[in-house]
Amino acid sequence: MSAFRLCAQRLPGLRSFPKQPASAITQKLAVSPSPPSRAQLLNAARLSPRPQLRAFSASARVSHGHVDPPKPGEELYVTFVDKEGEEHKIAVNAGDNLLDVAQAHDLEMEGACGGSCACSTCHVIVTDQKYYDQMPEPDDDENDMLDLAFGLTETSRLGCQVKMTKELDGMVVKLPSMTRNLQASDFK
Ligand code: FES
Repeated sequence: MSAFRLCAQRLPGLRSFPKQPASAITQKLAVSPSPPSRAQLLNAARLSPRPQLRAFSASARVSHGHVDPPKPGEELYVTFVDKEGEEHKIAVNAGDNLLDVAQAHDLEMEGACGGSCACSTCHVIVTDQKYYDQMPEPDDDENDMLDLAFGLTETSRLGCQVKMTKELDGMVVKLPSMTRNLQASDFK
């Protein structure tokens, strides 16, 4: 018995596969004897369904400078000393980073790279070594950027990399008198 027959016996659907007359196939393959006229082409284009417009999509915008106010009883406090020496004591949540807090309160912290550790415009100086020691060590990326910071000190950090914790409650940070914005090759 041939292999085809064997298959056909086991798969009865194969036997009932409808045969198409040769004429139907040649009809489908038939090429139009003369090229379509310009009017026919225009008509066909007008009647053909329009291509679907592709929807524009983008990943969610990372919003900097937005922080939620802390619930009563859960506040941690950080004080920013601005370039004029004015103090701004702010109640924050654990986990808020200093860049977001500063921007949410209209303090002058540029954050040119949006908190991705690629500039030094969020440079802050922790005024008390005690708090500085409570922070996790800066990683290599942060250290590289800090090396470019204007007026680097022993207790300098990048604000976008410092998240508030219970241990940092009461911390005071100074905003340096100048920052260096390497992204815009600009000094401020
Ligand atoms: S905002 Fe650029 S490093 Fe912090």
